[in-house]
Amino acid sequence: MSRAQAAAKKPLRSGWSQVAAEVVRHQDYGAGHRWLDLEVPRTFGRPVPGQFVQLLLRAPAPVLLPRPMSVAAVGERGNRRVLGFLYGPVGSGTRALAQHAEGDRLEVLGPLGQGYPLETPGTPVLVAGGRGVAPLLFAAEALGAAGRRCEFFFGARNKAALVGLEDAHRQLDRHGGRLHLATDDGSKGMRGTVVDLLERAAGRLPPPLVIHACGPHAMLEAVGLWAMRRGSPAFLAMESVMACGTGVCRGCPMPRSPEAKARYLETRGDAPSLLGNAEYAMCCTEGPVFSAGDLDWERVD
Ligand SMILES: Cc1cc2nc3c(=O)[nH]c(=O)nc-3n(C[C@H](O)[C@H](O)[C@H](O)COP(=O)(O)OP(=O)(O)OC[C@H]3O[C@@H](n4cnc5c(N)ncnc54)[C@H](O)[C@@H]3O)c2cc1C
Ligand code: FES
Repeated sequence: MSRAQAAAKKPLRSGWSQVAAEVVRHQDYGAGHRWLDLEVPRTFGRPVPGQFVQLLLRAPAPVLLPRPMSVAAVGERGNRRVLGFLYGPVGSGTRALAQHAEGDRLEVLGPLGQGYPLETPGTPVLVAGGRGVAPLLFAAEALGAAGRRCEFFFGARNKAALVGLEDAHRQLDRHGGRLHLATDDGSKGMRGTVVDLLERAAGRLPPPLVIHACGPHAMLEAVGLWAMRRGSPAFLAMESVMACGTGVCRGCPMPRSPEAKARYLETRGDAPSLLGNAEYAMCCTEGPVFSAGDLDWERVD
């Protein structure tokens, strides 16, 4: 059975709950971003890197629907669990979130979606673009806790946009991983894109490389196509505007590649489900982490 077929047969993660959460830390994180720690009961499932939650603001709030957010850190505190998030206040929901102070409460639904398959044998290569670093800080921590070193590639427009750089340094120092930096303007690390940097460094890393990436879709497409050309597995955390986060509203379609479509029909048929259908995967239930070869990049927004 191929790796893709095995993955298709693997049961998808579910088991979410909705709980009240308390803000226990909320501070500036540089380059206009914020770091948020939310305390939830220990009964809330422990997220794995790449999974996300839906943050639902309490009324009166300027937005009706929850907003999806990747988990950037998880800690335990007695019978409570602390979830860390790195986010940019870009619109009404995240700007209202930014007004929350310590002690304020909101609702959290999760953990949602499928995380990175960090157990895949090979050299874990984490590739972050800008604020896409969030789930990869968590991935570096999880790999380190499992005694595995990673190679961490981090790219952004400029030095200031390498948000979370200090935390990435700290994670990698603790666990012996290596950081590789690139900026478009050359203000930090190599001048160029993170894919240029990957191309330059890949030959010096112990094969096989297994890529886990998060960032803007254009970057993920470039990383995915680069990895597919080399025959390296690549797992990419995609983003879509979401409403329910649980597969019900059908609002977050991701176009399947012909191979993924054939595999879907073979393994799941055309029975209705909270996954997508043969043509489209739902980003919230089958993703947000997808294998690069499972998406039709011509049709990804
Ligand atoms: C699985 C997942 C994980 C995410 N993780 C993070 C994270 O860790 N940190 C973080 O800062 N953001 C993350 N996002 C994006 C975040 O959910 C959006 O920025 C947020 O929903 C915007 O809500 P808003 O009300 O502030 O903005 P809106 O007023 O709804 O929109 C403001 C602008 O943001 C754009 N936008 C809205 N939703 C998204 C989206 N999902 N992706 C890209 N652009 C969007 C809109 O098109 C618009 O231009 C994630 C999204 C998904 C799907
Ligand atoms: S957000 Fe509703 S189906 Fe994905």
